[in-house]
Amino acid sequence: MKVNEHFQNLGQSYLFTRINQLVAAYQKEHPDAQLLRMGIGDVTQPLVPAVVEAIHRAAEEMGHAETFHGYGPEQGYPFLREAIARYYAAKGVEVSPAEIFVSDGAKNDLGNLLDIFAGDNVVAVPDPVYPAYVDTNVMDGRPIRYLNGTPDNQFLPGPPDFHADLIYLCSPNNPTGAAYDREQLAAWVEYALAHQSLILYDAAYEGFLEGSDLPSTIFQIPGARRCAIEVCSLSKTAGFTGMRCGYTTIPLELEYQGASLHKLWGRRQATKHNGVSFVVQRAAEAVFSPEGMAQTRQALGVYRQNARLMADTLRELGIAFWGGIHSPYLWMRCPGFDSSWDYFSYLLENAHIIGTPGEGFGSMGEGFFRLSAFGTPESTRQAMEQFRRLHAKN
Ligand code: MLT
Repeated sequence: MKVNEHFQNLGQSYLFTRINQLVAAYQKEHPDAQLLRMGIGDVTQPLVPAVVEAIHRAAEEMGHAETFHGYGPEQGYPFLREAIARYYAAKGVEVSPAEIFVSDGAKNDLGNLLDIFAGDNVVAVPDPVYPAYVDTNVMDGRPIRYLNGTPDNQFLPGPPDFHADLIYLCSPNNPTGAAYDREQLAAWVEYALAHQSLILYDAAYEGFLEGSDLPSTIFQIPGARRCAIEVCSLSKTAGFTGMRCGYTTIPLELEYQGASLHKLWGRRQATKHNGVSFVVQRAAEAVFSPEGMAQTRQALGVYRQNARLMADTLRELGIAFWGGIHSPYLWMRCPGFDSSWDYFSYLLENAHIIGTPGEGFGSMGEGFFRLSAFGTPESTRQAMEQFRRLHAKN
C-alpha cells in the first residue's frame, strides 16, 4: 500500500488546527486567562426561533411511524431546494430547484467537488485566501498559481494574463472582507468564458451583503451560468456551523468537453453522499421563511454592530484595515510587527485576544492579521478595550 504522496506537500497542520493547538498550550499554562475569541469564524448567536421550532416539529415527525423519514433524496428534499430557488428569485436570479444540491456545508463541497475535475487542471487562487482551497488541491497534486491580493487592488485580484482552468473566488472575501462589484465579477466571467475555465464561487458570506448593491450571487452576472458553480453555506448567515447545511448550485447547461458538470456531480454525490438529515433540512427550510429571514437578519445585525465597534477602534488607533462592512472579517496591518505569527503571540499573551495570522492565508497575508466579528457584543467590547489599552500605550 502506498499513501497519497501529495500529502507531503501540505503544511504540518491545517491553519485553524495549528491555532487551536497554540491556544490550548497557552490556556494550559494560564488556566485563569479569559480568552477573547476573534479567530476562527464561528458564530455565537443561537439558532433563531423559527429554526428551533422547525427542528422540534421535524424531530416529532421522526418519532412516529406514520411520519418517519429514512434516506432522503441525495440531492436534498424538494421543499428545501424550492425554498432556496425562491431565495435566488428574490435576488432577481432564476435558478431551478433541479440545479441545487443540498450539502452538509460549503467547506465539504468545495473539497469534494474536486473529484469531478482532472488532476492536471491549473488552479488560480487569490493570495491571501481561505486555506481549504489550496490544501484540497495540494492533496490532489494540482498545479496552483497565485493571484496577489494587495492594498493596491483592495485585495480583489482581477483576471491574470495566464491560463487557469479552475478559479476560486470568494466574495465577500475570507479573509480580507473585500467584496467584488459587478464590473469586477463581469471581468472574471468574461475571462472564464474566453478560457473555458470554471469559476468556483464561494458565497458563504453573501448574507452580509444585504442592503448593498454589490452582487450576492455570481449568477447576477450575465454569462455566469456557462462558467460558474456557486457554493453557499448557512453557517455564517444562519448560525449553522454546528448544524451543517449548505447548498451548491450547478446550472444545467454547464458543460466542459461535452460533459455536464451537473450530471457528474450528481453521479459523484449518489455514490459518496447520503444527503443531509431530514431534521437539518427542515431547519434550513425555516431559515428561508419570512420569519426566519427577519430573525436571521436581526442575528446578523449583532455581528455587524461588533464589526462597527472594531472598525471604530482600529480607526481611532490609526491602524490600517480593510473589510468589516459587508463582512464579519476585518483585515488589519499588524501594528509594529512584520511577522503575523509574532503578532498573534503578542496579542494572545498581552491582551488575551485570539485572532488569525495573515500568513496562514498565504504568503501575501504576511504582515496582516484577521479579526472576526462573530463574538458576542460583550466579548467584542472587552476585546476592543484590551486592544485599545495595548496599542494606545505603544
Ligand atoms: C474561517 O474562520 O475562516 C472559517 O470559519 C473557516 C470555515 O468556514 O471553515
